Amino acid sequence: MWAGILQRKGTRREMNRRQSIPLVFNRVAERWWEWRLGIHSTGDYTSNQLELRNDGIPYDPIPFRAFFRAMEHVPKELLHGSFVDYGAGKGRALVLAARYYPFRQVLGVEMSSELCRHAEGNLQRAGAKNATVVCCDAANYVPPTDTSVFFMYNPFFGETMRKVLHNLRKSLQENPRVTAIVVCRARNFLAATLGQNWFQELACGTMLSEFNWHVFLTLTDRSRKHEHESGFGL
Ligand SMILES: C[S@@+](CC[C@H](N)C(=O)[O-])C[C@H]1O[C@@H](n2cnc3c(N)ncnc32)[C@H](O)[C@@H]1O
Repeated sequence: MWAGILQRKGTRREMNRRQSIPLVFNRVAERWWEWRLGIHSTGDYTSNQLELRNDGIPYDPIPFRAFFRAMEHVPKELLHGSFVDYGAGKGRALVLAARYYPFRQVLGVEMSSELCRHAEGNLQRAGAKNATVVCCDAANYVPPTDTSVFFMYNPFFGETMRKVLHNLRKSLQENPRVTAIVVCRARNFLAATLGQNWFQELACGTMLSEFNWHVFLTLTDRSRKHEHESGFGL
C-alpha cells in the first residue's frame, strides 16, 4: 500500500515539476522581451479601474511567445495590409506587429484612457512608427477596409463582441477579401460565432498548459458558395 501511495506522490510531484518548467521559462522569456524592446507592458487592473463596460475583460498582456506562435500560421500575403488589435491594452501586440511584420499600418483599439497612455509610451520607446492607438469603445470602431489581420486576445464578450463582429463582417462585405482572425483564449469568440460559416479554422494549438490560440481565415461569398456546392460546407 505504502509503495503505491509513495509512487502516486512521486508521480504527482513529477507532473508538477514538468508543468512548472515551461511556466518558469515563460517568466524569464517575458522579462527578456520587455528588456529587449524597452517597454513596460505588465500590470494588474480590475474592470472598474479601467472603466470598462460590463462585458469588457480587464488587462492581461499576451505572452510574447504565444503571439509569435499564432502569427506563424498567418499566410504571408496577409501580412502587408492593416493589423487591428481589439482591446490593445498597453500595446504589447502592437509593438510586436509593428516591429516584426511588414504591415502597412498597425492599429490598436483600447477603451481605457490610462492604458492608451501606456500604449503610446510603449510604441514610442519601441520605435513602432507605423503603429497607433485609437482610444475608443471597440463596439463603435470601424476597421480600415484594407485590414488583413484582426487580432483578439480575449478582450470582451456579449454585446460588445456582437457589435465588433458585425462591423468586421460589414468591412468584409464592403471590400470582399480573405483576412485572418487571430484569437487567443478563444472561448468568447467561439461562443459568439457558434454555428456561423463565414470563416474556417486554419490552425490552432495550446501552450503554457491551457493557453489556446486559433487562426481563422474569412471566406468570401464566392469561396463559401464553392464549398457548399462541392459538399465542404462548414
Ligand atoms: C486581455 S487584454 C488584451 C491586451 C492586448 N491585446 C495584448 O495582447 O497584450 C483585454 C483588453 O481589452 C480592453 N477592452 C475591454 N473592453 C473593451 C472595449 N469595449 N473596447 C476597447 N477595449 C476594451 C481592456 O481594457 C484590456 O486592455
